[in-house]
Amino acid sequence: MKEKIYIFDTTLRDGEQSPGASMNTAEKLRIATHLEKLGVDAIEAGFPAASEGDFEAVSEIARKIVNSEVVALARASVHDIDRAWNAVCHAKRPKIHTFLATSDIHMEYKLQMSREEVIKTAVEAVTYAGNFTENIEFSAEDGSRSDPDFLCKVFEAVINAGAKVVNLPDTVGYAVPHEFGKLVEYVMKNTPNIGKVRLSVHCHNDLGLATANTLAAIHAGARQAEVTINGIGERAGNTSLEELVMTLNTRPNYLPVTTGIETSRIYRVSRLVSMITGIMIQPNKAIVGANAFAHEAGIHQDGLLKNPMTYEIMKPETIGLTSSRMVMGKHSGKHALRKHLKNMGYDLSDEEVRQVFEKFKALSDKKKVVLDEDIEALVNERVLRTEDVYGLKYLHVSCGTTVMPVATVVLLANDQEYRCTGSGNGPIDAAFNAIAELTKTKSALLRFSVSALTGGTDAQGEVTVRLKEDDLIALGRGADPDIITASALAYVNGLNRLEYLKQNPSRISESL
Ligand code: KIV
Ligand code: ZN
Repeated sequence: MKEKIYIFDTTLRDGEQSPGASMNTAEKLRIATHLEKLGVDAIEAGFPAASEGDFEAVSEIARKIVNSEVVALARASVHDIDRAWNAVCHAKRPKIHTFLATSDIHMEYKLQMSREEVIKTAVEAVTYAGNFTENIEFSAEDGSRSDPDFLCKVFEAVINAGAKVVNLPDTVGYAVPHEFGKLVEYVMKNTPNIGKVRLSVHCHNDLGLATANTLAAIHAGARQAEVTINGIGERAGNTSLEELVMTLNTRPNYLPVTTGIETSRIYRVSRLVSMITGIMIQPNKAIVGANAFAHEAGIHQDGLLKNPMTYEIMKPETIGLTSSRMVMGKHSGKHALRKHLKNMGYDLSDEEVRQVFEKFKALSDKKKVVLDEDIEALVNERVLRTEDVYGLKYLHVSCGTTVMPVATVVLLANDQEYRCTGSGNGPIDAAFNAIAELTKTKSALLRFSVSALTGGTDAQGEVTVRLKEDDLIALGRGADPDIITASALAYVNGLNRLEYLKQNPSRISESL
């Protein structure tokens, strides 16, 4: 009998702490629905005390998700725990996750608390949370840099107070696998009541070791892993769900454990999170990067043809990457599109299918073969943007070798149309100047990047922009076969995200 490893996904909480990755409620709800279908055991939906936006998102997710636990984060205080419970109480399987730092450096400089005070506060927090639910997790923040004996004392005390999961985070990504495994082993041996609960780990990737540390911890007895899709998260991110799950899946002899993850949904969720957060996946990223299954060297290709196992340790189909691409074009109807969307895992409403179909028709006029990546971009870029302040209604550019680039833009805002013509160094610059004039934005463009979604000269261009206004940074993304239109869509998307951040100023990372 293989032992189960619980997958606790924190894409919507720690993942959202990635710079510029803030998501609105509709976007978080969409990701949560996909995480549930992916089979994660717990979805950490947010930190309700951090902002009204977080509170609302956690409440909405709690109302919708039925199979996975829905978790709300709270500092070890009555105020935070009340907020967490009020947000998460609607869930079928609610959970409160409270945390307090246990390392000497955090206790002395950040908390200004003695060890005794930390134990007392942690116990009080868990006891207070116990008034609402039995489903409580306690995290010893900066656990990997804490005195191991003190860590065991804290865990023993919070377990006695009612915690059902104790989590050992490598908050600053400082641990190395052998050492982290030893620490987990130590905690397992020296916390008298640890057998009553589940030991969890939560690793950050500052040294690129988050997945390795998590594996070492599982080897040493941890039975829950805290992870994010694509490894996004604070600073260098967290353990990536796909790396951990596929390692366990590919190397059952190394670790005879199992997870409840439906691996064939991994690629789809990875793309969705990338689209929504605007955080691109590096091409050489393990499991989900564009090159992860691309074999370039002739000798490899030859070997693969003779027997795929020569160079392929995992089958692309296992993570949901199929070689059977979308075979639809301009003659395909709405029913065929709806069916294909369903096969791709998108259960859209009639109105959403109508919107995607409209865009699909426009795209298939420009592009002969519409691929799955194109369809994903249509679904994610057009349907998911539900709370936008601005919409791009019209764009016309004139440019060439001998003319000054000029762009005319019509934006929709509050059901009104606003038109402006701008010039610039190139057509994209001209379009951006017109949009900036219409929105009167004070933001600066920090980054602009273009890539092709698929191969071929008729591929859709995918543009990402990074905008900064005062202390706020937002990413915007757009896709279209015309890269000038894709750029304008990305800029407008970035401006919408900035507006969202202005309305939700309190970011989690600032309050931790
Ligand atoms: O990294 C960390 O320590 C955390 C805790 C809140 C679990 O994110
Ligand atoms: Zn963290």
